[in-house]
This record gives sequence, C-alpha cells and structure tokens, in this order.
Amino acid sequence: MSLQGKHIVLGVCGSIAAYKSALIVRLLIHEGASVRVIMTPDATEFITPLTLATLSKQPVSVDYFDPKTGEWSNHIQIGLDADLLLIAPASANTLAKMANGLCDNLLTAVYLSAKCPVYIAPAMDLDMWKHPATKRNIALLQSYGNQIIPPGNGELASGLSGEGRLAEPEDIISFLQQQSRNDSKQQPLLHVNALVTAGPTYEAIDPVRFIGNHSSGKMGYAIARRLQNLGATVTLISGPSHEIVPLGVDIIKVHSAAEMLAACQHHFESSEIVVMSAAVADYTPSEYTDQKIKKKEDVLSLSLTRTTDILATLGQQKTAQQTLVGFALETNDELANAKSKLARKNLDFIVLNSTNDAGAGFSTDTNHITIIERDGQEHRYELKSKDDVASDICDRILAHRNTL
Ligand code: CTP
Repeated sequence: MSLQGKHIVLGVCGSIAAYKSALIVRLLIHEGASVRVIMTPDATEFITPLTLATLSKQPVSVDYFDPKTGEWSNHIQIGLDADLLLIAPASANTLAKMANGLCDNLLTAVYLSAKCPVYIAPAMDLDMWKHPATKRNIALLQSYGNQIIPPGNGELASGLSGEGRLAEPEDIISFLQQQSRNDSKQQPLLHVNALVTAGPTYEAIDPVRFIGNHSSGKMGYAIARRLQNLGATVTLISGPSHEIVPLGVDIIKVHSAAEMLAACQHHFESSEIVVMSAAVADYTPSEYTDQKIKKKEDVLSLSLTRTTDILATLGQQKTAQQTLVGFALETNDELANAKSKLARKNLDFIVLNSTNDAGAGFSTDTNHITIIERDGQEHRYELKSKDDVASDICDRILAHRNTL
C-alpha cells in the first residue's frame, strides 16, 4: 500500500533540520498524499510558512487563530481529518511536551486530538538525544503507540558528529511506506464496515423504573475493540454500559430494544460484519406510565409485550456477503438451544456461553465459549479473558469471510 490519497498532517518544529521539511512535503506530494503543514512558532524562524504553503498548496497553520481575520484553526478537526500525523523534525522540546500532554501551541494541541497513527522523526544534538529525559520521553511516546523514526548518525548543526540528525527525507518516506504495508497485512478488515451490539436494554415502566438485566457490555466492547484493531470501521450500538468506548469506534447509545432495533436497521445494510452480543429484553411493558406509579395494592401486575427479535429480523435480511454472528446465553440444554437459535435466526455462527460455567456470562472479565457453525462444526475454547475471547471470535469471522 502506498501513501496515495492519504491526508497527512506534517508538524514542523524549531530545529535547524526544519529546512528539510520542504523536501519531505515534496516527496509526500509526489507519492500522491495531500499535506497540511503545522509549524511551531519557533519553526518559522528556520523556514518560512510561505515556502511550505507553496509546496503543499495549502495554507500553513502556526497559531490557533489569525489575529487579523479571526479565522480559527480547529485543532480537533485537523487531528480528526488526518490519516497520519508526521512530526519531522521533532525537537527535544516538542517531544517533551507531547510525552507529558502539554499543548501550548497548535501543533501539540493537534497531537493531543489526533486519533490517527503518529510518526515522530526526532532531530537534536547528540547529547540532548542521549539525555535520560529524552530517552524517557521517547519511551513514553512509544507506550502511547507512536512510532519513532530513528535519527541518523553524522554531522550535526553544532559541528559535532553523532546520533541525533534528522533521518533523511527519503528514509522518512520509505519508513512510512513500509509501515503502511505492515499495517495492511495486520489489518485484514481495512475498509470493512462492522456493526456490534453490546450491553443490556432498559425497558421503561415509568419515569423512574425500568426492566433490565445484568449485562455489562464487556464482551461487545471487547469485540468492537478487536474488530477495530483488525482495521474495520466499527459502529457500536450499546445499551447502558459503563465500559470505555474504544478510540475511533462510532458509538450509538440506546436504551430500549426498540431503539436498538431502529439503530441496527439503519446500519445493517452497509455492514459486512454484524456481531450481536447485546442482551436484548425479550419483553417490554405493554404500557408506559408517564407519572411515577404509586404503591397501593399488595400485588402489582405488569403486562408485558414481546419485543422484536433484532437478530432474527436481520437474519431474514442478510445477504451472502454479510457475516452475521449471534450469541446464546443458556442455562440448560445448551448445545441444542444454541443450534436451534443458529438455524432459526439464519446466522453464520453462534457463540454459546452457559451460566453453568464458572467465569462465563454477564459482568465477569472472562468468558468460556463454544462456537457452533452452520455446518454443525463446534469449536470449544478454554476459559479466557473477554479480550482473548474477542480475538477468537474475530479469527472465526476472518476464517468465515475467506469461505465467501
Ligand atoms: N437478540 C436480539 N433481539 C432480541 C433478543 C435477542 O437481537 N429481542 C439476540 C441477542 O443479541 C443474541 C441472540 O439474539 O445475539 C440470542 O439471545 P438470547 O436472549 O440468548 O435468545 P432468545 O432469542 O431471546 O431466546 P430465549 O429467550 O428463548 O433463550
């Protein structure tokens, strides 16, 4: 995979190597990327914004806003729009700010807002590069998932010679290309839309009460996270859950089964992979009382009505190109019940977990599953963390997609 069509934000810091950013812009544009340059105020002392704006054919931003026109550079939007953020040269000062979350200029604010892969090409004098503080900052940045493009060895602006020189622009471009190739191998679901449901649904009885269940959403959130790591564009439709939404996943929060159905219907057609792990209520109060129900008689009866089975509805609409996965949480006759759901709901496979297994089911951090395929094949797995279970389920999805 090349850099063709990528939106690259190039951050330029105050370093003598800033002059090399002109060549970096040229090479990126030559590769078919669009480049938006952001400079730190110090960088403008080394190379003018005019040079980089001319080469990149886009205005260069230095400050949050232009004091003459009031035009605002929306750092959040710049960060979100980028496919890749390259900071070259990255000075010791900017590295330190990024490592510690400081954002006193536009570039560091864009860095904090960006959700895309970040590549950092440091440039500094050899003793600054060797200093434990810089080493620590580099380690911190790597722990955030940022990639460091190693500096070269050679003549430095100080007249000394050693490690710390900005990597050559051609080597920076090769590094990005190599990385893109690796990413597409590790991301077999790049450009694939996936839909995941998670958590419980809450069916309102009156303004203060509902019927719900103990689902935490952990399993569905882990699946969304794993699908996203594999490169998929993930929409997560979640009932009430305290789980943290994975970075980059589109979240749609719902309460009731009816709301979940509507959101699923909206996204189903455009999704090639659909994993329904939500614990959807099978019944909802027949009537909603818009004022709090006061206690009167000793016995109160609620009338409940069946909700629509979302999974079965989608199963009827499913095309041969879509992979549809359901869950079955059973207390008895586990295999027979799961197999019947697999057929009835027209699924590609079903993930069975039993309440009889220790460590399986709701609210735990682990799960113990069996996957049953359409042709009757059964895959039994050990008790694992929900993250590892999510990997197993996604591996099965990949294997199934290879048979399509
Ligand atoms: N499901 C759904 N919509 C519903 C009920 C369930 O989409 N109204 C989905 C769940 O997300 C899960 C699968 O159906 O993927 C099985 O859910 P489960 O509650 O185990 O099965 P039910 O079909 O409700 O069957 P039963 O209550 O008889 O066990």
